[in-house]
Amino acid sequence: MAGPASAPPSVEGLIIEGARTAASDGGLIDVLNPSTGERLAQVARATPADVDRAVASARAALESAAWGGMTPADRGRLLFRIAQRIRERAEELALLESRDNGKPLRQARTDVQVAARYFEFYAGAADKIMGHTIPLGPGLLDFTVREPIGVSAQIIPWNYPIQIGGRAASAAMAAGCTVVLKPAEDAPMTALRLGEIALECGTPPGVLNVIPGLGPEAGRALASHPDINQLTFTGSVEVGIAVARMAAGNVVPVVMELGGKSPNIVFADADFDATVKGVTTAIFQNAGQTCSAGSRLLVERKAHDEMVERLKAHTRAMRIGPGPDDPDLGPIISQKQLDTIERYIGIGREEGAEIVAGGRRPAGPALKGGFYIEPTVIDRVGAGMRIAQEEIFGPVLSIITFDDLEEAAAIANRSQYGLVSGIWTRDINKALALATRMKTGQVYVNTYGAGGGVELPFGGYKKSGYGREKGLEALLSYTQVKNVCIRYS
Ligand code: NAI
Ligand code: MG
Repeated sequence: MAGPASAPPSVEGLIIEGARTAASDGGLIDVLNPSTGERLAQVARATPADVDRAVASARAALESAAWGGMTPADRGRLLFRIAQRIRERAEELALLESRDNGKPLRQARTDVQVAARYFEFYAGAADKIMGHTIPLGPGLLDFTVREPIGVSAQIIPWNYPIQIGGRAASAAMAAGCTVVLKPAEDAPMTALRLGEIALECGTPPGVLNVIPGLGPEAGRALASHPDINQLTFTGSVEVGIAVARMAAGNVVPVVMELGGKSPNIVFADADFDATVKGVTTAIFQNAGQTCSAGSRLLVERKAHDEMVERLKAHTRAMRIGPGPDDPDLGPIISQKQLDTIERYIGIGREEGAEIVAGGRRPAGPALKGGFYIEPTVIDRVGAGMRIAQEEIFGPVLSIITFDDLEEAAAIANRSQYGLVSGIWTRDINKALALATRMKTGQVYVNTYGAGGGVELPFGGYKKSGYGREKGLEALLSYTQVKNVCIRYS
């Protein structure tokens, strides 16, 4: 348990209408530090009544002179100030993210910089959301205006709280919307900091409300709220379907960013040093708890043995430890998620695949109380096995071999998901032939991700979701088009 040196856990209120507030019934959530299993903090647990208050506050802000009357250029300046303030508080935010989520400190530092980039990117876009004029001939003038869609409800997961919180809130605010952000109960801390920073920078009260709460309580109340105008959801397919149904009841459009089983496809002619670095980062970053994790490795048969040897060597060298100590691999978010991962490793064994690296819970004094699992590589995986089809959401890589490009494409697309794919080859013809065939929202060639990918539209084919986050594309979800047609003589 907590030693004498640890600070007392903080108690954090909801952020509604620009002020900290307790939950209506005084309820609290215990927030755990997954590196130690100890309590890190307590946060207020929003009730449906708190959701009502937050939505009402977002509605009032939308119609206020302070926000609704702000020029797009001033909105942009505000978002720039938020980006700058995130950078000023970067080290504190990174440490908090690492303690809350368990991710290695340097990954948390990157996440904080990416969150700042979102505010900066959309700051520059706030005054460039334009309409069209549509030619109708003499006597008619027609133009379109992109107006803010209104109150944006945002339900985010625990795996990248500051990044995902930042990406959705910044785009919505750039478009002139107001936001009710519900962070995940497992890691709500840095989303609250974002709300606090927005206020420090002069964001009018009610523009960005942050209300931690449980999914079936606050999440449900928010998704089914009759006075939201848009919903952005990131999380599991199961809950995604449920919230989309709730939103449909009020004819509220949804952007859904769900899971993945993303393939990295490695040809024998690839640059192996770069490939090993890329594919291991793609699966082991954030302990595999990433929607776009490269969890399937498709390897050309002639390269199989060498790839497996390199992956074994790579995982053997990885240091496992508490996130704030900046290891190569931190803990899993919770005991529940750790149990799920272990269950999948067992399923892989039963399905006849071969665990060639990891697969166990590591032990050691530094790991006591935390939710750790070794980086795991499973070979001889069949394309139809459950471990090749279902999202494990842990540091577990499944290796599948292929003989030619046709087979690689077929295996890669044999998935209910379609978020990201990676292609590793020196042959541009192969790369392009395959890129055009991938049923995924993003394709990377000889890289995987691009510094956070703030500028790049991101979202899924198939059950990975619909709508797009990131890039200029994301702004469209936060606007609605009004067409104005005028007859003149
Ligand atoms: P989840 O889908 O339950 O949680 C995501 C968010 O939805 C959280 O804010 C949660 O509070 C909220 N939520 C949960 N139930 C809700 C409900 N009935 N109504 C409204 N909101 C609700 O994900 P969970 O349970 O944390 O993880 C389970 C699996 O989901 C993971 O193993 C992984 O496969 C997948 N997942 C995918 C993510 C992604 O980035 N696409 C992120 C997190 C989880
Ligand atoms: Mg936590």
